[in-house]
Amino acid sequence: MIEILVTGGAGYIGSHVLRALARARFTPIVYDNLSGGFPEAVKGFELIRGDIGDYEALRRLFGQRDIRCVMNFASFIAVGESAADPLKYYDNNVGRTFTLLRAMKEAGVSDFIFSSSAAVYGDPDTVPIREESPLRPSSPYGRTKYFIEEALSDLGLSDGFRTISLRYFNAAGADPAGDIGERHSPETHLIPLVLRAALDPAYAVTVFGRDYDTPDGTCVRDYVHVNDLAEAHVLALGRLLDGGGPDVYNLGNGSGFSVLQVIESARRVTGRDIRVAYGPRRSGDPARLVASSEKAARELGWSPAYTELDGIVETAWRWERTGRRGSC
Ligand SMILES: NC(=O)c1ccc[n+]([C@@H]2O[C@H](COP(=O)([O-])OP(=O)(O)OC[C@H]3O[C@@H](n4cnc5c(N)ncnc54)[C@H](O)[C@@H]3O)[C@@H](O)[C@H]2O)c1
Repeated sequence: MIEILVTGGAGYIGSHVLRALARARFTPIVYDNLSGGFPEAVKGFELIRGDIGDYEALRRLFGQRDIRCVMNFASFIAVGESAADPLKYYDNNVGRTFTLLRAMKEAGVSDFIFSSSAAVYGDPDTVPIREESPLRPSSPYGRTKYFIEEALSDLGLSDGFRTISLRYFNAAGADPAGDIGERHSPETHLIPLVLRAALDPAYAVTVFGRDYDTPDGTCVRDYVHVNDLAEAHVLALGRLLDGGGPDVYNLGNGSGFSVLQVIESARRVTGRDIRVAYGPRRSGDPARLVASSEKAARELGWSPAYTELDGIVETAWRWERTGRRGSC
């Protein structure tokens, strides 16, 4: 069995990737400091509690195990917080990731799959966004992803690292089993907030800006199901094991949905009323972020199973209504 170190594997996306790895007969080892992750999300998998900034712990781990590849999900993820406290983000998402890469280099482990983000593009000139579009991140969070991508390409040239950066658009939904799902604190992502409003009549979801140049005036985003993201990781791993990389891929659904369309979808799926409040635009929020994932389709053979928004929201609703409550 091939061992894969999944740093940040107790979080939202990582916990779904563990299941996809197990289905594909890999052996994931979760390494997570539980700053934003949960042990109950990784039931049935080996969990080592540790920080990617702890060089000694990583050195020991690489010495003891036969790790073939590292998938790194460990980072802070809130765009707004990154603007308020950039050092927190540069320390964790850049500094500690370098420590992880140094430990890998010393151990002779060179295969690395990195959770990058659509945030590397900033406000794009055109949509759908292709990988060769200009990289102009508009937040410290986006810059942390950009810096790591650049470092990975340097490490490929100097140290033979073979890396794939996956630029996720808006990860959404949950495993249809309903027992794992999105659980950020504070939650800043739209679908969980909309579903909070479905569950709590006293809560109103805020729509930031209704004067964008989009059909209904609200921001358009590309929602990609978390299990489709998970499958893309398995395909990217296969490519590295076959000698591929370095490379970078967008992962999105290719369809854009506005904030109001998401709210309408949640009303259909839940059958409940959802209170809405309107607020001003947030700075740095582009009008449209929609991926072209043609490259991932062509080179990885990736084809998202969840193409309809209602199907994505339905799995998130199952998690919000049953799974999350069971695990709180
Ligand atoms: N959720 C999205 O829509 C989205 C979109 C684009 C990119 N991403 C990226 O995907 C990755 C996973 O996102 P997520 O939504 O699952 O976030 P998450 O917060 O649910 O998971 C991150 C995990 O990393 C762990 N972690 C953080 N810092 C750590 C450290 N120093 N050492 C060890 N563990 C650490 C946390 O405990 C948590 O379990 C992140 O890198 C994020 O930037 C997410």
